[in-house]
Amino acid sequence: MRHMLGIKGLTRDEITRILDTAERFKAVSERRIKKVPTLRGRTVISAFFENSTRTRMSFELAAKRLSADTLSFSASSSSTRKGETLMDTARNLDAMKPDAIIMRHPASGAPHMLARNFPWTVINAGDGINEHPSQALLDMLTMRDHLGSLAGKRVAIVGDIYHSRVARSNIFGLTTMGAQVVVAGPGTMCLPGLSDFGVEVRHRIDDVVEDADVIMMLRVQRERLGRAMISSVREYARFYGLDLDRLGKARPDVVVMHPGPINRGVEMSPEVADGERSVIMEQVTNGIAVRMALLYLLLGEGRPALGGDDAAA
Ligand code: NCD
Repeated sequence: MRHMLGIKGLTRDEITRILDTAERFKAVSERRIKKVPTLRGRTVISAFFENSTRTRMSFELAAKRLSADTLSFSASSSSTRKGETLMDTARNLDAMKPDAIIMRHPASGAPHMLARNFPWTVINAGDGINEHPSQALLDMLTMRDHLGSLAGKRVAIVGDIYHSRVARSNIFGLTTMGAQVVVAGPGTMCLPGLSDFGVEVRHRIDDVVEDADVIMMLRVQRERLGRAMISSVREYARFYGLDLDRLGKARPDVVVMHPGPINRGVEMSPEVADGERSVIMEQVTNGIAVRMALLYLLLGEGRPALGGDDAAA
């Protein structure tokens, strides 16, 4: 594996290997000294051309906890603002001899273009409406923590499926792992061709809540809505929002997820977001372990995962 551009095309064994590796890295973040020497001397640049809180910080923390040198580039404070093209920016990053670039970009396929043209490892941290592989991996790790295994489990993904790279990566990953995926969202926000991937499509949230093992709520991607796809936010909340009433119809042990950022009161009420079924903060914590696993598997060159004496690799 040289790049991590998407979940599509990964095998069940490959996904399991990443999740198992992440499992071992969880312990590093529980220590007082949260650092292993695994990637000492490697340079990891995060290049974000779109806003991010969780993904960027946890990739950077992951790289630092593996002892890599990290630096970050964000479009809003860079020469992109002065009109530099993506290719020119990438050529300049290349001249600084990085080992890996973690990239988020509004254009689907942007990280793939860099991967084709430059010698370093590229990790896709979200490209347009295409994929967000590290998010799906941390989601699957969180589900595995609660459900034991993914095979045969029923995962409902609710909301703006069409614009969601999180949904796409999860659909590829979960179906590969043998989970049953059902999506629910307004007709205008559903992806055509989902049934080709074995995904069930419903248009009412009440049709998916009752028998789900996991309910994953998505944010309405207002920045990507080219045209009006919903008549009003209030109406969306009423028909597709998860509140305590709706949650009351779900299995008592249902796992409620959200990739963040949450629009409280739109896709999810605050009582649900902060409630006892919510694992949203666990998703954030698991994000670090998953990103450590990805960096290690891509850049570690067979060195022991946890370095030194406690090497378990
Ligand atoms: C997601 C994204 O950027 O795709 N956020 C994230 O990475 N946690 C989801 C979103 O923005 O709604």
